[in-house]
Amino acid sequence: MIPKNTDNVFVFKDSFRALAFLVLIAVVAPYLYHLQNKKQGQVPLPPSPPGNLVTGSLSEVLAAVKIKQQHLLFERWAREYGEIVRVRSGPFVQYFINSDGAVKEVFDRNSAFTSQRPRWIASNEQICNRLNVLFLSADDPKWKNQRKIIHSYLTSVSRADAGLPFLHHESAKFLYQMCQEQDTTEVGGWKLYKRILRYTYSTFASQTFGMDIPGDDDQVITDIHETGLAQILQTLPGANIVDVLPILDKLPLFLKPWERQNRQRFDRDMRFVKEKLERLKRLRARGSTSDAFLPLIESEDKGSEFSAGIDEAAYLSLMLVIGAADTSALSTWSFMQAMMMYPDVQIKARSAVISVVGNRIPVFEDIDQIPYVRCLMKETWRWRPPVALGHPHTTTKDVIYKNMRIPAGSQIHLNAWAVQHDPVRYPDPNAFIPERFTNDHTTTMQSINAKDVSQRDHFAFGAGRRICPGYHVAERSLAVAIMRILWAFEIVPSADAKLPLNTLDFEGEAMPAMADKRMPVSLRLISEERRRDIERAFEIALAERKNLEPLVHEDGTGAFEKLSFVNFGGH
Ligand code: HEM
Repeated sequence: MIPKNTDNVFVFKDSFRALAFLVLIAVVAPYLYHLQNKKQGQVPLPPSPPGNLVTGSLSEVLAAVKIKQQHLLFERWAREYGEIVRVRSGPFVQYFINSDGAVKEVFDRNSAFTSQRPRWIASNEQICNRLNVLFLSADDPKWKNQRKIIHSYLTSVSRADAGLPFLHHESAKFLYQMCQEQDTTEVGGWKLYKRILRYTYSTFASQTFGMDIPGDDDQVITDIHETGLAQILQTLPGANIVDVLPILDKLPLFLKPWERQNRQRFDRDMRFVKEKLERLKRLRARGSTSDAFLPLIESEDKGSEFSAGIDEAAYLSLMLVIGAADTSALSTWSFMQAMMMYPDVQIKARSAVISVVGNRIPVFEDIDQIPYVRCLMKETWRWRPPVALGHPHTTTKDVIYKNMRIPAGSQIHLNAWAVQHDPVRYPDPNAFIPERFTNDHTTTMQSINAKDVSQRDHFAFGAGRRICPGYHVAERSLAVAIMRILWAFEIVPSADAKLPLNTLDFEGEAMPAMADKRMPVSLRLISEERRRDIERAFEIALAERKNLEPLVHEDGTGAFEKLSFVNFGGH
């Protein structure tokens, strides 16, 4: 029946229009899709889960995100639809690369066309003012330049070795702190994770700024994490209006509250790093030297190698702490999870370490005599890759793989979780089995460069030109953590753990698939004799240590200023 009053006419007209629009989409969308497929010699797009005509797979993706199991959803789609899957969530389309062969072809062989990042206005252009290597566009000359300098001053094999004294000191301090507890098994969950965070943040603050973080409760750890989180969260599809509708970026600044906040954050972070730079200059004037990233660049007067001068190097130092510290802490935490859940592996691993080092605290170089440690590292990064769904790249040209086409301008993800839990590649993929790698003695770099990709151990560091430049450093960090923790402690469920353990109780809050601070794990000193070994080792470490300035002084000098508008939270 046709409604009589005019309001209803409008309602009717609107409903009619909406219906007509939907019909149009229903008819036109498959046609457009067909047309898109016809481009370039009819190479079709990769398969997709069916989804809703308008919203695509949005509701399934959101439901999985809500229960922190997006990695399992994308893994299921990998098994159902194959090596490359196209997922549309509302207006956003992502391609997941799910097999070793597809990773090799898409990220490595086509790296000239697959190393771009999406345009992130909020994160890259505003929060980081185009100075953060992780978000920089591949055609921005700063990106290549920063990678070159990171390699020369921090992450090459020789520079990673130069960082070992910092790592050895901080990890010895961790063991010492733990063995000073009346009852180490009472230090579980968050308190233990906080200690691991202190030691990784302090290690990387020392390697980059030449300054350390002495206290577990130091606010600077939360503040650095918070600013890294703000950067990353703003890259998520739909996280902010300006990345959905880039035209809004053209508005005058007074109409863009988000940009004002983002730029305030950048200015605040810049002031934080410049204070460190000024201190380093004063220290150098007093004759102090340091073998860390920023002090070296400053003392060698290499600021001119950065387009934004030495301030860019200082800002980059903070970005490197952000990239290095949480991923390293999460790796150690996953290793502890595995040891708690696989006690037989733990016994074997401890005996492999102690049979070589005896009562002497292990050092990185021991890894050559303890091949099982390499197996443990490889299996930890396979079992729980810290960046499970990869950091997005975009394509700058159509890329073809096995009669599937990823169009130019697409967002692609290296689905490390799916590749590393493929039951064909790794039988019984959910089990922690270091023996899978018994015959693989390659370092991370050798494995990344394997000609035959089926021989690559795992994909936790990404692939192609944007591969994580920090893998030599990360390898040292995890190897030392593994050897020292096994040497000193038994890794056991905390007294309050709910048994049998259910990983769903403590996974996913921090990163998909990763155990978080709720994990009920604790450390039990293996013997009183070991307490004395640790005390002796830490005494020597203290004696050998050059005094470092703290990143933030106890009275708060050098701390981050508080932001009034938004806080993305701590760990
Ligand atoms: C276990 C530890 C680590 C893991 C699992 C890890 C993983 C990753 C991943 C997956 C990416 C993205 C790669 C891509 O886009 O394809 C990345 C990028 C990056 N990582 Fe790491 N990382 C770790 C440690 C480190 C360390 C120790 C450093 C520095 C010393 C570092 C510095 C960086 C930088 C600078 C980038 C950006 C590269 C670019 O966009 O060109 N990472 N990392």
